[in-house]
Amino acid sequence: MNDEHLLNCTELHAGYGRVPVLRGVSIVVRPGQFVSLIGPNGAGKSTVLKAITGFARLSSGTVTFNGQAIRGMRADRLVPLGLAYIPQGRIVFGQMSVHDNLEMGAFTVRDESTRAKAFARVYDLFPRLAERRTQLAGTMSGGEQQMVAIARGLMIQPRLMLLDEPSLGLAPRFVQVVFETLAMLKCEGLSMLVVEQNAAQALALADHAYLLELGRNRLEGTGTELLANPDTRRLYLGD
Ligand SMILES: Nc1ncnc2c1ncn2[C@@H]1O[C@H](COP(=O)(O)OP(=O)(O)OP(=O)(O)O)[C@@H](O)[C@H]1O
Ligand SMILES: [Mg+2]
Repeated sequence: MNDEHLLNCTELHAGYGRVPVLRGVSIVVRPGQFVSLIGPNGAGKSTVLKAITGFARLSSGTVTFNGQAIRGMRADRLVPLGLAYIPQGRIVFGQMSVHDNLEMGAFTVRDESTRAKAFARVYDLFPRLAERRTQLAGTMSGGEQQMVAIARGLMIQPRLMLLDEPSLGLAPRFVQVVFETLAMLKCEGLSMLVVEQNAAQALALADHAYLLELGRNRLEGTGTELLANPDTRRLYLGD
């Protein structure tokens, strides 16, 4: 076991039916790192997160989390290990209050005082959600719903959070709010693997970043290196 690797994915191969999508993707997240995963539509970014969390089947490759092999493990078994996954699409329970959404996030946390601490911490990080704890999540703005989805993931006090396109489809003002939230969580020391279309902002925050193309690693480096790379700039940053 290498404890420098919180998450270590090597040579992931996966597909849907017989169509190959991942053709050997390798990704490492070290403790406390903010790692960005960027690349064009269809590159396989979401599939990487699904493969890590057992929602997509890997035909080969290894996934270790905190030194433990987790390949093929079901998502509900990953939660107690401290792996939170926030899928694409700001999925909240619309007919439930903000508070009840957070309760759902904490369903695996049995100890009352741990739950209470998780609530206190999340409401401290997101005062806006504290103000609106009784509001039905479905009636909140898109940006606020994304906050609820992220906050729900935080209720397990994860070691690592996987986020798929947290800013997608939001008005510019809320895109900013989402990136401010990510920056705050990074400052708090949370380890994150974040898939983002918004490459410039995702790279600006990234300790390390991977550019995927056609299901393969194409480039990697620090966020700053990828931001300065002419290929990244031409393909993803509109130069
Ligand atoms: N459930 C599925 N069944 C069949 N094919 C799928 C399924 N999900 C994804 N694919 C295909 O796998 C490929 C990679 O998809 P994936 O969602 O991982 O890409 P992505 O990099 O996240 O793209 P985007 O930026 O558009 O979200 C695409 O060609 C997509 O059509
Ligand atoms: Mg995707």
